Amino acid sequence: MLLIKGGTVVTSERRFRADVLCDDGGKIAAVQADMEAPTGSTIVDADGLLVMPGGIDPHTHMEMPFMGTTASDDFYTGTAAGLAGGTTSIIDFVIPEHGQSLHDAWKTWRSKAEKASADYGFHVAVTHWDDQVHQDMETLVRDCGVNSFKHFMAYKNALMVDDETFLNSMRRAGELGALCTVHAENGDAVSFLQETLLKAGNTGPAAHPLSRPPSVEGEAAQRAITLATVSNTPLYIVHVSTREATEAIANARLRGLQVYGEVLPQHLVFDESVYQSSDWLKASRYVMSPPFREKSHQQALWGGLSSGQLHTTATDHCCFCRSQKEMGLTNFTRIPNGVPGIEDRMSILWHHGVVGGKITPEQFVALTSTNTARIFNIHSRKGMIVEGADADIVLWDPSASRTISAATHHQNVDYNIYEGMTVTGVAKKTISQSRILWDDGTLRAERGQGRYVERAPFKKKTSDSLTEAVS
Ligand code: URP
Ligand code: ZN
Ligand code: ZN
Ligand code: ZN
Repeated sequence: MLLIKGGTVVTSERRFRADVLCDDGGKIAAVQADMEAPTGSTIVDADGLLVMPGGIDPHTHMEMPFMGTTASDDFYTGTAAGLAGGTTSIIDFVIPEHGQSLHDAWKTWRSKAEKASADYGFHVAVTHWDDQVHQDMETLVRDCGVNSFKHFMAYKNALMVDDETFLNSMRRAGELGALCTVHAENGDAVSFLQETLLKAGNTGPAAHPLSRPPSVEGEAAQRAITLATVSNTPLYIVHVSTREATEAIANARLRGLQVYGEVLPQHLVFDESVYQSSDWLKASRYVMSPPFREKSHQQALWGGLSSGQLHTTATDHCCFCRSQKEMGLTNFTRIPNGVPGIEDRMSILWHHGVVGGKITPEQFVALTSTNTARIFNIHSRKGMIVEGADADIVLWDPSASRTISAATHHQNVDYNIYEGMTVTGVAKKTISQSRILWDDGTLRAERGQGRYVERAPFKKKTSDSLTEAVS
């Protein structure tokens, strides 16, 4: 048993002084003030620390084959880095290869993820439509613990779906009680702009944001919402990066639609100037989609998060080292899209959000775990400090600072987008399954210790969980 003593528990609702007892089965056994330590228990002094649910990152790409290479953080190193930053579970994406069935792809990802050191689940990408996909979606929901599917409106000739495929998938997901998620960028427009830019001789990273302007995201977000209205299903939009998409979501919600939006901390912090560096490598390291935007979009994202119109934070953690980024040396469209971030999500959000006066500690908890647990239906286990929940806990020092650097991070990648940034708000200890796996600078992550977290379907299109999810 582990007794966390003297800390301040923070949930998405409130803050209170209580001790937290974690049992040997990896569950929270009690949350109570001034608890007696059971015989043989280990006592952790949490004086001056906040006791919060471990972070859930619902958007990662560990060892994902993408754009001719494979993301460099695998399920072990990536989840271990997450633990070092206070994140205790992830939801990663199963991406079927061309011609591979969804169910086979899910099995491939299950086996890749066996080495994970923290808990994980999967969204499964639907990249085309046929009877097999229709059938596999049912198998995945019924037998495999999957309750969400992913759709890419971008990445033409690779992962992109057309509206018809998306509609078929949404209708099927609705029948099964699963949630559809979407990468909203108009892939045809991106492809058109990429060709135009290349023809005009714009081959460097500075062309990347020009090929994916805000309107291209805004249009796709609005279209996804329209299609979700046609199919009468809820929708979760990943990596919202623009005012346009934020407004589309807020307007849909005002009309009573169940639409959720996810924000990546990097979009709150960086703007498009990162692509202007004269150092090619430096600029290429920020190539991700959607790209970093003109600064005014950040205000919309913060407004969305603080007003409750945007609901979760994730990282889209997708690491590529120098030699991989260099695949696009002469052509920006070949730079593997993706940036690292799982280790720093919580610190960045605390520093810029809580310390910056934009969100409260309770909202921080909602945005890093509780809302995600509700939206993806793992709320009975995750995202809460309550008896019976998983003992996934971060002991947070709200006033400690650290300077982020690739020299000290645990992510398996040769750079950090936040290099040199000093942040206040640090994960002191991270507890998973009642065990301290990050202990004030010492990482005790173990290969294979993470568990696959099955996620049950929602009862119906408008299940209790979804309707009560986030107001
Ligand atoms: O650039 C990104 N975001 N790479 C990962 C794939 C995706 O679009 O999420
Ligand atoms: Zn199965
Ligand atoms: Zn995406
Ligand atoms: Zn992604």
